[in-house]
Formats: sequence, structure tokens, C-alpha cells
Amino acid sequence: MAKMEVKTSLLDDMIGVGDMVLLEPLNEDSFINNLKKRFDHNEVYTYIGSVVISINPYRSLPIYTPEKVEEYRNRNFYELSPHIFALSDEAYRSLRDQDKDQCILITGESGAGKTEASKLVMSYVAAVCGKGAEVNQVKEQLLQSNPVLEAFGNAKTVRNDNSSRFGKYMDIEFDFKGDPLGGVISNYLLEKSRVVKQPRGERNFHIFYQILSGASEEFLCKLKLERDFSRYNYLGLDSARVNGVDDASNFRTVRNAMQIVGFMDHETQSVFEVVAAVLKLGNIEFKPESRANGLDESKIKDKNELKEICELTGIDQSVLERAFSFRTVEAKQEKVSTTLNVAQAYYARDALAKNLYSRLFSWLVTRINESIKAQTKVRKKVMGVLDIYGFEIFEDNSFEQFIINYCNEKLQQIFIELTLKEEQEEYIREGIEWTHIEYFNNAIICDLIENNQTGILAMLDEECLRPGTVTDDTFLEKLNQVCATHQHFESRMSKCSRFLNDTSLPHSCFRIQHYAGKVMYQVEGFVDKNNDLLYRDLSQAMWKANHSLIKALFPEGNPAKINLKRPPTAGSQFKASVATLMKNLQTKNPNYIRCIKPNDKKAAHVFNEALVCHQIRYLGLLENVRVRRAGYAFRQPYEPCLERYKMLCKQTWPHWRGPARAGVEVLFNELGIPEEEFSFGRSKIFIRNPRTLFKLEDLRKQRLEDLATLIGKIYRGWKCRTRFLLMKKCQIIIASWYRRYSQQQKYQKIKSSAITVQSYIRGWKARKLLRELKHLKRCNEAATVIAAYWHGTQVRREYRKFFRANAGRKIYEFTLQRLMQKYFLEMKNKMPSLSPIDKNWPARPYLFLDSTHKELKRIFHLWRCKKYRDQFTDQQKLIYEEKLEASELFKDKKALYPASVGQPFQGAYLEISENPKYKKLKDAVDEKIIIAEVVNKINRANGKAASRIFLLTKNNVLLADQKSGTIKSEVPLGDVTKVSMSSQNDGFFAVHLKEGSEAASKGDFLLSSDHLIEMATKLYRTTLSQTKQKLNIEISDEFLVQFKQDKVCVKFIQGSQKNGNIPTCKRKNNRLLEVAVP
Ligand SMILES: Nc1ncnc2c1ncn2[C@@H]1O[C@H](COP(=O)(O)OP(=O)(O)OP(=O)(O)O)[C@@H](O)[C@H]1O
Ligand SMILES: [Mg+2]
Repeated sequence: MAKMEVKTSLLDDMIGVGDMVLLEPLNEDSFINNLKKRFDHNEVYTYIGSVVISINPYRSLPIYTPEKVEEYRNRNFYELSPHIFALSDEAYRSLRDQDKDQCILITGESGAGKTEASKLVMSYVAAVCGKGAEVNQVKEQLLQSNPVLEAFGNAKTVRNDNSSRFGKYMDIEFDFKGDPLGGVISNYLLEKSRVVKQPRGERNFHIFYQILSGASEEFLCKLKLERDFSRYNYLGLDSARVNGVDDASNFRTVRNAMQIVGFMDHETQSVFEVVAAVLKLGNIEFKPESRANGLDESKIKDKNELKEICELTGIDQSVLERAFSFRTVEAKQEKVSTTLNVAQAYYARDALAKNLYSRLFSWLVTRINESIKAQTKVRKKVMGVLDIYGFEIFEDNSFEQFIINYCNEKLQQIFIELTLKEEQEEYIREGIEWTHIEYFNNAIICDLIENNQTGILAMLDEECLRPGTVTDDTFLEKLNQVCATHQHFESRMSKCSRFLNDTSLPHSCFRIQHYAGKVMYQVEGFVDKNNDLLYRDLSQAMWKANHSLIKALFPEGNPAKINLKRPPTAGSQFKASVATLMKNLQTKNPNYIRCIKPNDKKAAHVFNEALVCHQIRYLGLLENVRVRRAGYAFRQPYEPCLERYKMLCKQTWPHWRGPARAGVEVLFNELGIPEEEFSFGRSKIFIRNPRTLFKLEDLRKQRLEDLATLIGKIYRGWKCRTRFLLMKKCQIIIASWYRRYSQQQKYQKIKSSAITVQSYIRGWKARKLLRELKHLKRCNEAATVIAAYWHGTQVRREYRKFFRANAGRKIYEFTLQRLMQKYFLEMKNKMPSLSPIDKNWPARPYLFLDSTHKELKRIFHLWRCKKYRDQFTDQQKLIYEEKLEASELFKDKKALYPASVGQPFQGAYLEISENPKYKKLKDAVDEKIIIAEVVNKINRANGKAASRIFLLTKNNVLLADQKSGTIKSEVPLGDVTKVSMSSQNDGFFAVHLKEGSEAASKGDFLLSSDHLIEMATKLYRTTLSQTKQKLNIEISDEFLVQFKQDKVCVKFIQGSQKNGNIPTCKRKNNRLLEVAVP
């Protein structure tokens, strides 16, 4: 959003009127009252059009702050309340933007605030113009030139504690951008008489006091000074110290300023040496000395001071001493020396001091100019600031006041001229008819003073140059003659004077009616001061000084450049420089600051109406207002005028669309302002009478109040409505928020219930799913584990061979194999014979083969038995079967058995079939004979043995007689029930027969055979095969035998060896048959 520009006007918040042009009625009283009113309200500035009236407040007001600078910066002149900054801004802007050179003319009497005003202008311009290191240095140098010049050129007077005792005009130069480039200072007529003498209650120039107060002891010593004002004749004692002025600190400020401005150390030193010399000159005193020729001579009382001055300034003491005693006049190669009397010596001394000081001051200005001069040759824009001494009316007014007042007269004239000119130009510019303006023109007074033939200055010069005795009185006489008829000249002695009886006008005085009042001048000193004479001896002595600065100050002292022509008089010099100044000012756009002093006491808040009235008069301020108001009192461009008053007319309020001028025309017509009261210029409206303006202002004020009421009303309405709407809106918002909230709560409840239900269901579902999934997972895991194990196993199996872990086992197995191999190979070689009865078997080589070894032994044995058996024929097989049977039947039962094992079972021991002896027998037995042997048949009665042939056939057991071969007994095998025998090594056996059978009638047989085992075995076998019954074989050492009806016990006992190995059988009794077995 664009920043709102607040348009204000000078007419706002006015205390009195800000612009005197608007003063109604316009007279001296209202003028003063307006000033006073404003002054009482701390408004020290008031305008007369573009002229600023400034009243010295004699206290520091908070209106020069940087904020104020900003406030006035780039604002229109009439926009804000009157201020020196407004004028400075206007001047600076029109210099910068319109390329118009400016001059700021500050006038007013001593102590009215001119110097302060000039400093304010400079500081404002410095604040608003360009910035940058170089620019800042220039600014600083320009600003710092002030304290230096003030120290040397200002003094405390009764009117002003810091009174400028010289005129100053400073040109500040700017480049096209408005940045300061440098400056040039012109100085006008320093009041040098002050150096040697000050009026009561006043001081010499500040610098003297500053040195003595502020310089260090060392520096003072160097300057041969003492820190004691009373030691110096040139320092007025009664007001050596000024209240509120700190000379010591000011001295430091000055030295600092000199340094900033660019003074070299040696230059500063020289400057202070000259100042010290001037001060000490005042201490040189003379005493009269009568000479023989009757002429008065003077002599220096105490040469000590002179000596020190000479040491300080490098002047030959004798030269200076002589210069104080003689005066040499040179005319046409002739030199005439005359001695000086005491008065003349003092005159010479003072003249030297004054000259030394005033020349030093001019040198300072030149030197400062050197420093601050613009460094470029480009075209510059210039702003001149003129701070010249103000109009002065003292009790005793002398040449200086005359000169000063002349200068002010000239300034007034230029003021009138330029103001009128400007006014006229504006009328022409705006196309308004120019009406003649009555005003007082002080040209006539200027003429009285400066006229080349009849002017007072011309008279004075004439007198000074005139040969013969010239005194101030002769000068006055001359004036009385020449100026007597002048309206503004008053003198008692003039021809047909109107003032013959005017006792207020002494004879030695003349009075001039200046524009600012009548001033009476004492003629005494006019001639001298105008001559401004310095004896050549002195200037030559100075020139001879071994001190570069002093030498430079007195160039006329150089004998080589001796100039017999009189130097121009002070008056003519001044006139010329004023003329130059005026010329200069005329080329520039003037800006006026007219300073007014409110009281004589330098006091704040005191407004002395009489004093102010006097100043208003001589400054011609009323005239100024009149001139300004002659045609039209007020003028203003159309735009701001329309802007300010547009609310007074319906057509222009609130917006006027057309051109501003048309708007103003409509406005003025509407308001019914009489036509003679205003005129339309090209860009401005001109209002003839302030009353019209005030009427407009009143209407505006009224309208503003109405508008304010309206605005207030609308605002209040708007505010209430806004508040109502806001509250309504709030209510709706709150209600909606509440509804929303309650719905939210409800919704949340439902939602949370739904969520709970959902969550239960979901939980249930999820748990179910989880269970399934878990199961599935377990299955998968199981499958995976199984698969993994399976794969693992497979892989391990596949890769086991590659594993080092299996090496042991492999090696073990291999070793085992190797051992087994070796074992079997060795076994092969160590094999025992194939005989089944061979008990040999190689020793077991390894313990671990123990069982194998045993098994192998068993297998081998079985195998060799089989092998052995395989060799058998059927015959042999039968034999062995029988043998086996025998073994089964008798082994370990019958002692006879082992002996039978090696005997082959022959069966047919008797060759029945072949042997013819058994032919009969053979014929009797048609069956196959299994056993045919001879046995002993034991007689049951005595136990005697009888041989019998024992035959066993398939079905029968036959006993036959050995000799005859007759069959004695034949028993079918089915009738044999039992065979009994002893366990001993005998061949006895009993064949028990079945009771009742045919054979059994004779009883059982008791037989003895050599082949008992074979016999018993074969009988058993045959019985088994024929009857399918096992024959009972009883092996016992006691058994019963059936002998017919008797049962006899056969008992085997251990017999003696005397019968050899043949057992003997004895019948003991009926029942017992004893068999003795060896
Ligand atoms: N605007 C101001 N605000 C405060 N004090 C001021 C102002 N103007 C002037 N003064 C006071 O008045 C005194 C005199 O002012 P200043 O030296 O400017 O007068 P002047 O017009 O230059 O006098 P002179 O003609 O003697 O040089 C200053 O020293 C200062 O104390
Ligand atoms: Mg001053």
C-alpha cells in the first residue's frame, strides 16, 4: 500500500499567524503582538512571504535535532510551521534542482542571532546534502572554519557574548548533484580597534583569553606569556571572564578545528606567536625624554617586554626600538626622520598591534580559503551565506559603526530591490497585472554615504588626501557644507540647519537618518581610522622579522617594493568590497533571515516590545509585508489550494476530476467570494486580502468540524455495526463450533463403539487367521525343517566324503579293511589242515577280530567237515551214521565207547556167505545179515561163557552155534524190548525180550561181545527202522535180567587185573550175577 502522505500547511495549528502577510489588521502593534505571541509559544520563526524572521530565544530549543532536519527535508516551504530549516531546504533544493545560485542574507543587530542562524543553515545543508568520505571531509572543513574565525574575529560585547567583529560572507560551492565541493570566505572590516581598547564591559577578541586559559604551561612559556590576564594592558580587566564561556575548552576546540581545516603545526605555532606578540606589544610603555633641540622624544620604559617580543618574532630589537622612536617620511627620494613623542609612540605601538592582528586575521581567512577551496574546475553552484555585523546604534558611534551601518543600509537596499523585483517577476510570471507599490526606498541614504562626489565617504577620503592640516573637525565642516541639504543628514553646524537648536546633537557629531533609525556619529577618529596609518618604519621593521608569517603580513615593508602612493583608505576599501558583495548578491537568488533580538539582557523568555519595535522599524519589516501585500496578500499554487479547500464545495468534494485551476474557480464561485478579492494566475491563485483567506480558513475549520462530526458519526456507526456484525459472526462461529463439537463428540462415541465392535470382530478374525496362519506356518516350518534336514542329509551325504571330519572314519574303515585284508591273507597262509579233528587254529592277531576269529574257526571247521563229508561214499556215510548213532548213544555213558570209535563197524565179521562153514547158517537165514559175529553167551546158571554166532538181520536177532552153525535162538526184533549194559569197559550186554514172546521162554540173553558198541548201535538202528520204535538201551552197573522165571541182578564190580583184561562173570546166588570188570 502506498504510504499516505500527510499534507499539512503553514495554516495548520497556527499560533498567531505564521506568515505576517496574513496579519489582519496590519500595523506595528499587531505585528509585534503576533511576534510576541509566537515567541511566548516558543515559535521563534515567522515568515513574511519567503522571508524568515528569527527571534533570538537565548536558550537552546529542541528544534534543531536530526529528526527536525528530516521533518523539513524535501518539504514545501509553506507546508510546515516556519523554520530556518524550511528556508535552508528551499534554498538548497532550488540550488540543486533548478540550478539557481543562492544567497542567504542574514541581517539583524548585534546579538540577534545572525551567526547562529548562519551556522544552522550550514549544518542543515551539510546534513541534507550528499554523503561520502570526501564530501564529509569538505563539510567538516567548512563547518570547522567557523570556530577558528569566531575565536579570532568574535568578542564579548555588551550586546553579545559572542559578537562577530567582522563581516563574513561565505560561498559554499556544490557540484551538479548538490554535493559540497568547497567554499570561499570573504571577510569585511575587522573591528581592529578592539585589539588595543575595549569599551567598558567588553572584551578583546576571544583568542587572547583562550590562549591564556587553555594553553599548556609549556606552550605559554614558549610564547613567553603568563597565565594572568591582568599582566596585559590590552586585555580589559572588568569582564575577562564571561559566564557560560569556557575559554580553555574553546581553545582546544579552536586548535582541533585548525587541525581539521588543514593548518600545519608550524603555521598554528606562528599564528599563536603573532597573537602573543600583539598581546605583549600592549605592555610596551613609553616615557618622555626631552631632547636638546627641544623636541619631545619617547623612550621605552622597560625593554624586557620588547626583548621578548623580538625573540618571539625574530625582529632585531634595535630596529623595532628605533621604529617606535622615529618616523621616516620619504618623499621623492628624500628621507626625513622625525622623532616620536610619547603619544605618537603609543599611537605607533597600537597601530602596529592593530595592523598585526587584523592582517593576521585576513591571513587566516586566506589560509582557510586555501584549505576549503574546491579542488575542481568544473562549474559550481554556489550558496552564499552572509553573516555581517548588524545595524549598530551605540551611545558613541564612530567610524566603525558608520561603516557597519552603511553596509546594512546597502543590504536593506538590495533587500528592497530584490524583494520588489521578485514580486514583480512573480506577477509577470503569473500574468497578473502589476500595481504600483508604495514603499520606502533607502537608496537616498546609500547615496548620501557612497556618492562618489558628494557622499560622506568621498568627503572623508578627500579630507584624508588633502594637503594641509586635516582634522576630524575639518571633515565635519566639509560635511556640513556638502550634505547640509540632504534629507537624511543632520548636523548642528550645517548651513541653514534645521538643527541649530537641537541640543541632542553635539557640535562634534553628525546624524544620519538611516532606514533603521537615526544614528549620531562622533567625527573624532574618522580621519585617522580612514587613513589607517602605519608608520613605514614599523612595517619595514616587521618585514625584516625573521618570522615568515609576520614578514608575509607586511609586504609593503619590503624596501624593494617601496610604494609612495598612499594605500587606499579604509572607507574606500570597504565601499569597494561592499559594492563587490552587492554585485555578487544580485546575481543570486536571495533568501532572507531577519534576526531580531527580543531583549537587551541576553535573557530567555523576555520580550521587550520597545526593543523589538525598534528593530522592526529599522529592518523595515512592515514595509516588507506591505510590499508583499501590495497586490495580493496571499498566493498559493492551485493544487494545494484546491486540496485544502475542496471540502467547502460539493462539486470539488471529495474529488475534483478536472484541472486544479478549474476546481479552484468552481470553488471560489460557489463560495461567493467577490471577484475583486482574488485573481487567477497561471499556476497560482492570488488572494488580495488576508481576510478572504481567513474566511476560507474559518469555513474550512467549520467544515472540518462538520466533517469530523460526520466522520465520527459514520465511524461510530461503522464501529457499532462492525461490532454487531463481529458479535453476530462470533455467535454463529461459536454456535457452529459448538454444534460441530457436540456432533464430533457424538460421532466420536459412535465411531469408538464401532471401532470397538469392529476391533473385536477383527480381533476374532485375526486370531482365527492367526491360528491358521500359525498352523500353516508350523507346517511350513516343519516341512522346511524336514526338507532342510533331508537336504542337509543329502548334501552331507553327498559332501561327507569331502569333509575332513569323515577322514577319520574313512581312514578307520580303510585301515580296518586293510587289517581285515591282511588278516585274511595271513589266515590263508596259516590255515590248519583240512582234517576235522585237527584242533590247530592260528592265534588271533587283533582283539577286535575275536568274535570273527572264533566264527571263522567255526565256519572253517564246518566247511572242512563238509568237505570231509563230501568225500564219503554212501557206504561210508552209512558207517558214519552208525558211528554217529553210537556216539549219541554211548558217548560219555559207556567207558568202552572211546575205544570203539577208531574201529570201523564191519558188521560181517564172519564171512557167512563165503565161508562154507557157515553154509548151513547161510541157508537158514535168507535175510540180509547185518551183523555176523561171534559172541559169548553167558550161562545164566554159572556164568560161564559159551561162543555163539550172533546174527542180526533186518527182522531178527539170531544166535547160532559157532561150530555147527545151527540156529539156537531166533528173536524177532519186535520182541526185543531193551538192551542193558554196564558203564564200564566191558563187553557184556543183556538183550531183554518181550514177556510172553516165544523167545522169552528161555529168558533174556546175557551176551559179551568184542564189538558191543557196534552191535548195540546196529540193533538199535535196525529195530528203529523195522519197528519204528526206539530200542531202550539201559546203561547201568546193576540191572535185572529175566532168567526163565527168575530175575537175576547183574552187577558189575571192579575186578582185579589177574585175569588180564577179560572180565569174569560169576553167579553169586539166584539173584545175583557178578561181573568183575578190570
Ligand atoms: N537560535 C538560537 N537558539 C538559541 N540561542 C541562540 C540562537 N540564536 C542566537 N542565540 C544566542 O544568542 C547569542 C548571540 O547570537 P549571535 O552571535 O548569532 O548573534 P549575532 O547576530 O551574530 O551578533 P553579532 O552581530 O554581534 O555577531 C548566541 O551566542 C546564542 O547564545
Ligand atoms: Mg555574529
